[in-house]
Amino acid sequence: MTEPADFRSKRIALNHGGGRMPALGFGTLIPDAATTTRATREALEAGYRHFDCAERYQNEREVGEALQVGLAAEGIAREDLFVTTKLWNSNHRPERVEAAFEASLERLRLDYLDLYLIHTPFAFQAGDEQDPRDQSGKVIYDEGVTLLDTWRAMEGLVDQGRCRAIGLSDISLERLLPVYEAARVKPAVVQVESHPYLPETELLEFCKEKGIVFLAFAPLGHGMRPGLLEDPVVSAIAERVGRTPAQVLLAWAVQRGTALLTTPKTTDRARENFDISALPEDAFDEINRIQTRQRLNNVVNTGTPGFIPRAASA
Ligand SMILES: NC(=O)c1ccc[n+]([C@@H]2O[C@H](COP(=O)([O-])OP(=O)(O)OC[C@H]3O[C@@H](n4cnc5c(N)ncnc54)[C@H](OP(=O)(O)O)[C@@H]3O)[C@@H](O)[C@H]2O)c1
Repeated sequence: MTEPADFRSKRIALNHGGGRMPALGFGTLIPDAATTTRATREALEAGYRHFDCAERYQNEREVGEALQVGLAAEGIAREDLFVTTKLWNSNHRPERVEAAFEASLERLRLDYLDLYLIHTPFAFQAGDEQDPRDQSGKVIYDEGVTLLDTWRAMEGLVDQGRCRAIGLSDISLERLLPVYEAARVKPAVVQVESHPYLPETELLEFCKEKGIVFLAFAPLGHGMRPGLLEDPVVSAIAERVGRTPAQVLLAWAVQRGTALLTTPKTTDRARENFDISALPEDAFDEINRIQTRQRLNNVVNTGTPGFIPRAASA
């Protein structure tokens, strides 16, 4: 099937009757409260309807406030939004899952979630400390709970109708497989780092085969320079097609069948990052041929966030 040229209104159907996720998502991993509120409002104004949150970002209240005010001001219905948040590592014990979910909902000022994700497959010591460390500074993991135990509690939330879909984040194909096989409610979404330097093709193929939405974070390489935004292939294509390097990278992600999350922090960037349309086939193929390989965020190997400063966990 030919992709539509304009990706602004593209939505991807979730399995298990989980609704439709807008392909272009706004991520709320923003360190300060005032910027979170302003950038979330501006994203809504620019046209974003998909918002990605997490209890670990410690700003669900600001996002919730911005969404409330924005919805009222722009006459947007809750049903038009797609809101995700994530269960943090210190809440993996099944008896903690529902309380963590309810606390996130309350902070976000919502009465249901479109998607709830297990933030990482690593269980940390259970409790309110998000970054539990021993005296030598090493993370304290919780060996007493398996990922499947946590998944069963997530399935319970879907059964109760409190969230429409569930999924996993920062997960490798190897770790995803046993959960997928054992799941009663199959994962609807997998959220992982992905960009031309980390295409995760094998995981993407698995997701396509099983009807799981592959949701890419850091599609701009987390804005790091030097990096993807200055890649010579990407820059040359941007010049040729009259788009910015960011627009080229975001178009590539949608064109290969993924949804994505980006974090513009100004009105101009919100508009730029939302104005995404298909690339010519030859440009798409050129990006697929980029050979550089680089993972920017090591969270998938440790459960410790790579883009959140340690101080934020205090
Ligand atoms: N599951 C996980 O563990 C996980 C991990 C990381 C992220 N995420 C989610 O994914 C979201 C997106 O990740 P990300 O922030 O790494 O995405 P990203 O969009 O690849 O990177 C954001 C960075 O790109 C810059 N940028 C944004 N738009 C730009 C443009 N048009 N031109 C030039 N630079 C631009 C921003 O710079 P300025 O700061 O200067 O605006 C920012 O530093 C997060 O907010 C979060 O929701 C999830």
